[in-house]
Amino acid sequence: MKICVIGTGYVGLPTGVGLAELGNEVTCVDKIESKIADLNNGKLTIFEDGLEELFIRNRQNGRLKFTLFMNEAVREADIVMLAVGTPPNPETKEADMKYIYAAAKELAPYLQGYTVICVKSTVPVGTGDQVEKIIHQENPTADFDVISLPEFLREGFAIHDFFNPDRIVVGTNSARAKKIIEKLYEPFASKTKILFVNRRSSETIKYASNAFLSMKIHYINEMADFCEKSGADIYEVAQGLGADNRIGPRFLNPGPGYGGFCFPKDTNAMAYMARQFGAELSLVEATIRGNEKRRQRMADKIYALAQDIPCPKIAVLGAAFKGGTDDCRESPAIEIMAHLLKHNLQIALFDPEAMDNARKILGERVTYCANAYEAVKDADILAVLTEWNEFQNLDLAHIRTLMRGHQIADLRHILNRAQALALGFEIYSPGIKQH
Ligand code: UDX
Repeated sequence: MKICVIGTGYVGLPTGVGLAELGNEVTCVDKIESKIADLNNGKLTIFEDGLEELFIRNRQNGRLKFTLFMNEAVREADIVMLAVGTPPNPETKEADMKYIYAAAKELAPYLQGYTVICVKSTVPVGTGDQVEKIIHQENPTADFDVISLPEFLREGFAIHDFFNPDRIVVGTNSARAKKIIEKLYEPFASKTKILFVNRRSSETIKYASNAFLSMKIHYINEMADFCEKSGADIYEVAQGLGADNRIGPRFLNPGPGYGGFCFPKDTNAMAYMARQFGAELSLVEATIRGNEKRRQRMADKIYALAQDIPCPKIAVLGAAFKGGTDDCRESPAIEIMAHLLKHNLQIALFDPEAMDNARKILGERVTYCANAYEAVKDADILAVLTEWNEFQNLDLAHIRTLMRGHQIADLRHILNRAQALALGFEIYSPGIKQH
């Protein structure tokens, strides 16, 4: 099939590349000239594990193209995917729909033959109706259906998730559109549940999923606070909880709170939407408030360790909002460092991928180190703020010799706690009572 993907960000690009790999002819459109120039020169504009190989292969075999212009790509397309950004309004936190509506208006005149328009971006309930109205106004004779096709890709795992989705949710009541989408996802049909629902349900499923996962993280974080007071061990509690099939073991890792471009944005947008509809989402509201407060509280915990030390130096490992990505947007690690800097602490930072992005936000207020061992040299406190797998294999005995102090705040439970204690470290981790 011929597919036009509009928007080449964290959703659009892996989706376009994945669809080309499945054998479709894909043209990706973006307004940013430098992005299209890079992509046409064979240079990827985002880092995603496994993306490069597929990108190179499909460009070479001619199934993957990039352009600044919608006209030809939309005219030829059986399917148009809208994957442009829906950033939060800085004041109300509602999803800003201007890029979606502008794209709908721009593509409308080029539609030719029957076309399925899929809204992939995370959008408020009712957006499909709006997009349909705009296209109809711009091109009254166009033959099309607008469907909701939410994307559940995780950053850092986009290619893995594209080829191994837990489910594919399709929001449409059109039999014609359903047939085309069934054909598109035929390669997944034997192993993946394809759920056809109405458009508004589909739009809701995306928000409801992200809100639920955010709540699950906030819940385990509150349980961690409870365990710290009660003397229980959050690790053991999470294991016991997660072993119940109704609860499940994933997303029960306590830490400094969720971050990234999706959970904070989508929980806020959902809460805003609910207020507009006059529905009460008290759990989502509480999750948002609790998660925001948590970053300050985690910074306070680290600061408390430093209080009696003159000119304390803190080694920070991790700046990205989670392991496996260079993305620092809404990163708890960045916010915790910003709080610590208010107390004039010295910070020596190392992150395997996110140093450039961290520098864009924190500037020269922190020292950027080439590796973890350089960061811990002469540090009084070691704070682990991002769950990078490679931090699991750090040589703690070597770190003990390099550090001036012996205190660790491992907010991600990534270090070997027993070994750290045996080496004479004092170690704080959320949900474990300190003795
Ligand atoms: C999320 C959703 O998982 C994905 O389905 C959606 O399409 C986009 O939003 P992503 O933002 O890439 O994906 O990250 P995710 O892996 O879900 O983690 C989000 C945040 O939660 C990170 O800050 C992570 O560190 C934190 N987290 C996750 C925890 O603190 N504990 C956990 O147990 C899991």
